[in-house]
Amino acid sequence: MEIKACLFDLDGVVVDTAKFHFLAWKRLGEELGFDFTEEDNERLKGVSRMRSLDILLEIGGLTLTQEEKEAAAAKKNEWYVEFITKMGTDEILPGVKSFFDQLKAAGVKIALGSASKNAMMILERLEIVNYFDAIIDGTHVEKAKPDPEVFLKGAEAVGVQPGEAVVFEDAAAGVEAALNGGMRAVGVGDPAVLKGAQMHIDGFEGFTLEKLRAGLE
Ligand code: BG6
Ligand code: MG
Repeated sequence: MEIKACLFDLDGVVVDTAKFHFLAWKRLGEELGFDFTEEDNERLKGVSRMRSLDILLEIGGLTLTQEEKEAAAAKKNEWYVEFITKMGTDEILPGVKSFFDQLKAAGVKIALGSASKNAMMILERLEIVNYFDAIIDGTHVEKAKPDPEVFLKGAEAVGVQPGEAVVFEDAAAGVEAALNGGMRAVGVGDPAVLKGAQMHIDGFEGFTLEKLRAGLE
């Protein structure tokens, strides 16, 4: 099937903000009195802020009241935002812009499909807002990945059928969301983690629309 749109997750696909999420959650864990490892962090990828906090608390064996949870999530977000406000345009991952340029030249639509409520701020810092024909982020969706809502809204916003769209994801929940929505998925990262994706890449360096088409055939 023809590729009419590419839908991109943000954190870990377009920009390496996953490391900042990790550092902020780790700091929160330390404040709460437990260690939070990089391995634990895999479970948080692609997951909404509040759900991430629930997983973190489960790992630490802690229970907080709703009020305490909201305060903790706000604190984590403050630390996270501190990191991302220091980010420059060079933080965009290698090859992403060149791939966007190829999509533009070929008339393939570009949409964002992210769980993050900080997505706009990040796109602005990277100066890539204008590449996107549609931006669907954590402020537009009710259901978290692996629910396909974020990607279905993205496909709809750029006027293509799910079967004509390809999703790029670094999280297992995100690949699942794409497949649940009837889209094809390209896993960016470890194929063992991103099971079910029709194609796997390490990143966008040297990646082309031609390679995408060939890989999905
Ligand atoms: C996802 C990240 O893109 O966004 C998760 O993979 C993060 O780690 C989620 O928790 C929500 O982000 P934010 O910026 O709204 O806290
Ligand atoms: Mg991600």
